[in-house]
Amino acid sequence: MRILFVGDVVGSLGRQMVSEYLPRLKHKIKPQVTIVNGENSAAGRGITEKIYKKILQDGADVVTLGNHAWDNPAIFEFIEGAPKLVRPANFPERTTPGRGIVYVKVNSSELAVINLQGRAFMVDLDDPFKKIDELITEASKRTPLIFLDFHAETTSEKQAMGWYLDGRISAIVGTHTHVQTNDGRILPQGTAYLTDVGMTGPYDGILGMQKEAVINKFMTALPHRFEVVEQGRGILSYCTIELNDKTGKAQKIEHGVINEDHPWHE
Ligand SMILES: [Fe+2]
Repeated sequence: MRILFVGDVVGSLGRQMVSEYLPRLKHKIKPQVTIVNGENSAAGRGITEKIYKKILQDGADVVTLGNHAWDNPAIFEFIEGAPKLVRPANFPERTTPGRGIVYVKVNSSELAVINLQGRAFMVDLDDPFKKIDELITEASKRTPLIFLDFHAETTSEKQAMGWYLDGRISAIVGTHTHVQTNDGRILPQGTAYLTDVGMTGPYDGILGMQKEAVINKFMTALPHRFEVVEQGRGILSYCTIELNDKTGKAQKIEHGVINEDHPWHE
């Protein structure tokens, strides 16, 4: 099974990059499952039903989320009826709508897609290490193919999760920091690992936000309102992972970006 994962779609430029390049990427890479992180897709904060459906229409099989999942209240109106939308599984179980795990069927195989959120420098959610143990037990009854989008701030927490899961899931790819790391690898027991896949959206902002406000915030230490860059050059960040369908072990992980410095080639 080949998986294509596209990192954090930010605002309208991110959505444009997905519409423009996801079909071409899919044509070139021919993935069986395409996953897109959409937690910043509505003006940098959250997601709407219309955007969720458009990302699916552009070629995603599953849309994952993260800490901004709830920023746009529109999500509460459609998340329960959105079977391809995955929110971090370690939000409080009793009170959080939606699902933290989704299964995608591909011929006779099935991929479990899980979303978890880290805790270092983030909201204090339920323990993601404990939660993933439960989810692996659940998913393993159905399939050996398990993918985790670990939405976390620190490299150390992501690496810790990677090593914790080596040999127990097929792949763990980080999101949230918006900058692609260059450490894609197969861990010794067969789990594909990448600290962060990077973002899809404005190429000339600061993590997707207008740079002036961010610079001013650092210079003045006063609060500033961050707005997403809506126009200009774009970037799309992705990785591809190949799995052995029988064992669930990863065979290959590659990552790339599309932007003016790394232009698209057919
Ligand atoms: Fe995030």
